[in-house]
Amino acid sequence: MLQILKYLKPNEHQSSDFDAHVDPPRFLFLLINKRCNLKCTHCSFWQDNDDDRPNYLDREGKRRILREFHSMNPKGAVVICGGESMLDLEDYFDVSKESRQLGLTCLSVVNGTRIRGGAIADRMILEGPHEISVSLNSHHAWLHDKTRGVPGAFDKAVAAVRHLLAARARSGKSKTRIYVMGLIFDENYRDIEDFYDFVLNDLGADKLKLNFLQPSFGDTSVDHFFAEHHKVDPDELLAIIRRCNERFDLRLNPAWMANVHMYFQSLRTGRDLEKGWAAPAQTSKHICNTYERNIMVDHYGVARLCFSTDFRGARLRAEGDLRKFWLQSEDIRRKMRKCNKFCGISHSVRRISSTLTPAAYSLPLQSSHAQAGRGETHV
Ligand SMILES: C[S@@+](CC[C@H](N)C(=O)[O-])C[C@H]1O[C@@H](n2cnc3c(N)ncnc32)[C@H](O)[C@@H]1O
Ligand code: SF4
Repeated sequence: MLQILKYLKPNEHQSSDFDAHVDPPRFLFLLINKRCNLKCTHCSFWQDNDDDRPNYLDREGKRRILREFHSMNPKGAVVICGGESMLDLEDYFDVSKESRQLGLTCLSVVNGTRIRGGAIADRMILEGPHEISVSLNSHHAWLHDKTRGVPGAFDKAVAAVRHLLAARARSGKSKTRIYVMGLIFDENYRDIEDFYDFVLNDLGADKLKLNFLQPSFGDTSVDHFFAEHHKVDPDELLAIIRRCNERFDLRLNPAWMANVHMYFQSLRTGRDLEKGWAAPAQTSKHICNTYERNIMVDHYGVARLCFSTDFRGARLRAEGDLRKFWLQSEDIRRKMRKCNKFCGISHSVRRISSTLTPAAYSLPLQSSHAQAGRGETHV
């Protein structure tokens, strides 16, 4: 409770809507654009555009939200989200630089196409996020390019990782973490061991984070990719992950492995998966804790407790609105505690982290349920 009172305005805690059990938020996800330059078959963001940009929250609006987030949790982390967020470079660096100035940790996942040489890689190391993940669907160029929808995408993603690693080495002192974010589905799960070998030993990235196929991101009436590529044998996958854990000394969390098994088991028995997010299927266990740690702010400045628009959001018009939303959302949390949607397996929202290694940045939270979610970056 003391933790909460520190960031309350006088008398705010007397509100009847006030949630007395909530810790400060740990992650702020800030969406800066919608468009994308690849054509992934598991994502439809690239079919969207930013024509509505005049109605987006402007740079000063985003800075105001960053400042307020910092006042709620000076040790929090900011995640820059897109589309391909690096298509809007000045907006991208505005968020990373403001986060750095405030002392917040900044993270982002990018497709790598915009990190084409030493100069931009140097800027990323100097002004960009503290943790940069480049997405890769496979160590096989043909599979990455096929599922990313654009020939040459693999070469660009791999070159981006190499440019970033070289820039970090040049800087001499940078502690920027350079990861690969791998999407796992039916065509690549049997090759995970070689994927790790490529990422850790050939590329020399700091980590390969495994991200498991969910219904396609964006609006799709028929989710072909999810329906056709979710069939992963849970037992076989777990045996492969265990082997990688030993060979590469990954320190993976057994509770996370159990959740991954449960996830693919749930998909196996799920009905109507071609309906994507609208399918009635769910995970058999509740594995998400987004409502205890995250605030997502969309392009228009609407805050939510997860990416789903099925739950109420609130427009952030002025200083104080972020704090108020976080503290007065018990109605949303009550619903989310019963939510078993497939997104529960994602880095951004799951309670259990994949590794046993303590995170470089997370709050010393007081509640025991929040402690359970510590570990890796976890976004
Ligand atoms: C939506 S993208 C946005 C950032 C950037 N454009 C990129 O591709 O890295 C963020 C992450 O979501 C992953 N992703 C896309 N579609 C997905 C799906 N259907 N299920 C799970 N992850 C997905 C991507 O592979 C990427 O690592
Ligand atoms: S996953 Fe990323 S790169 Fe692929 S279409 Fe979606 S936003 Fe673009």
